[in-house]
Amino acid sequence: MERTFIAVKPDGIQRGLCGEIIKRFEQRGFRLVACKMIQASEEHMKTHYADLKETPFYGGLCKYMASGPILAMVWEGRSIVKLARMMLGETNPAESKPGSIRGDLCIDIGRNVIHGSDTVENAKREIDLWFKADEMLDYAPCAQAWLY
Ligand code: PPS
Repeated sequence: MERTFIAVKPDGIQRGLCGEIIKRFEQRGFRLVACKMIQASEEHMKTHYADLKETPFYGGLCKYMASGPILAMVWEGRSIVKLARMMLGETNPAESKPGSIRGDLCIDIGRNVIHGSDTVENAKREIDLWFKADEMLDYAPCAQAWLY
């Protein structure tokens, strides 16, 4: 099983979209293994987005992500990194298809409500950055046997 890091961004929290977002992952059949509300520092966000350091939006992105609480989560399931990115839609909501989270719930690239790791390698790095090992639970919901 694969794991990915998903975060509802500050705009998603303020707009009350956590339930809708969690519902989509649960209904798809993924398993929530860790979850916490956290207001990250700008320094933490700079580490999270370190590979974007050279982009013109790096500073603004880190400020926005540190501007309010976010919902940090780890989800688990087969091929979840790729499938979660498909569920999110394109980075730019304006290019996201209806049916995707961004295609249904937002408009602006700078307020795109959700983050999802883009590769398995980055998922591991991000999970380690946001969660301690003992914050992640291992359990087997009954539905598991009907999914795989
Ligand atoms: S991605 O999703 O990593 O493939 O896309 P990428 O284009 O590399 O974007 C990386 C993160 O930067 C955010 N982003 C922006 N924020 C503000 N303004 C602009 N113009 C912009 N372009 C990209 C984008 O939402 C990605 O953040 P996350 O948290 O991964 O969604």
